[in-house]
Amino acid sequence: MDPIKDQFARPLRDIRISVTDQCNFRCSYCMPAEIFGPDFTFLPQEEYLTFEEIYQLIKAMGDLGVEKVRLTGGEPLLRKDLHLLIEKLMSIPAIKDIALTTNAMMLPKYAEKLKEAGLQRVNVSMDAIDEAVFKKMNGRNVSTKPVLKGIQAALDAGLEVKINMVVQKGVNDDQIIPMAAYFKERGITLRFIEFMDVGSTNGWKLSSVVTKEEIIRMLNEHFTVEPLDGAYYGEVASRYLYTGTSAEVGVISSVSDSFCSTCTRARISADGKLYTCLFAAEGFDLKSFMRASSSIDEVRDKMAVLWNKRRDRYSDERTEETAKNRKKIEMSYIGG
Ligand code: GTP
Ligand code: 5AD
Ligand code: SF4
Ligand code: SF4
Repeated sequence: MDPIKDQFARPLRDIRISVTDQCNFRCSYCMPAEIFGPDFTFLPQEEYLTFEEIYQLIKAMGDLGVEKVRLTGGEPLLRKDLHLLIEKLMSIPAIKDIALTTNAMMLPKYAEKLKEAGLQRVNVSMDAIDEAVFKKMNGRNVSTKPVLKGIQAALDAGLEVKINMVVQKGVNDDQIIPMAAYFKERGITLRFIEFMDVGSTNGWKLSSVVTKEEIIRMLNEHFTVEPLDGAYYGEVASRYLYTGTSAEVGVISSVSDSFCSTCTRARISADGKLYTCLFAAEGFDLKSFMRASSSIDEVRDKMAVLWNKRRDRYSDERTEETAKNRKKIEMSYIGG
């Protein structure tokens, strides 16, 4: 019989796993400080999947076609001894690529250890190069300096680095060109991300989205950019080259030009729920299922069934109404 993965209508290639829902930032578009304040209840740590459980799940997902793992949060470097998890995941033959999404604050401390453990690359969230804008957006009055230091530490450790900038009209759209210039000069790929209606706390409005088309137009007023072919099936970023250089820039257009038809991603929250879409209302409690199962093969087969019946295409169908009225999980819980 064919392997289970060959029977999927859509391939499952990419698993994004949140290792904590906590963060030391309070970005306005993700964890607004007025909601995620001192009284906010985060997951109790005893609810987290253990590293062994994550390893078992990802190994089983390897049989289903998963090749890429992204560790996210919250801020994943807040999870103690994350390098030990990376080491374990690296030993799974099916896994070709392990990446981390981080705000970079703790990279000076951990970059070398992470690289030694087998991490290949980090995507750093950074939304402005101007001090005042950056301080305001991260909600914790943190300067750009420790973040830039974190980025440098990652580069020094030999990690590949990309920068993610979520663009919100009237908040940081004046940073598009300064950020592009800063990272172009250093040969670091920057990706502009359209502000999305994830969760229900970030006050999203369609009018606060700066679209891919607008961003490319702005870039072309200051530089010249030319489109590049996609690097792999299911890639979310449209990639461009600054003409005459080897520096790249990208745009992730999940609002104005969505990419659900090639979505190969599943997500697991820190407490072990499986989500087949970033905008899902509910996940499947894999942790309980796994703890009650007699074998990991049973868990693998359950994941295959869940993936096979998935019909998610939230971003393709998004309207201002669905954005307001649907129940959705928060990005800090399910991970970037
Ligand atoms: P690599 O190409 O492996 O570096 O990863 P990536 O391009 O998927 O980048 P990353 O994981 O940093 O994702 C960047 C941002 O794209 C996320 O933080 C989201 O804002 C958005 N994004 C990523 N995956 C999805 C997805 O499946 N659906 C939607 N709607 N947005 C996504
Ligand atoms: N819109 C788009 N991207 C978001 N992220 C978090 N919240 C949003 C949002 N509302 C993504 C960013 C960030 C990562 C951790 O999650 O890319 O870098
Ligand atoms: Fe934290 Fe990243 Fe969310 Fe900002 S975007 S609050 S750094 S998890
Ligand atoms: Fe995939 Fe859902 Fe994002 Fe569409 S909205 S690309 S289905 S995660």
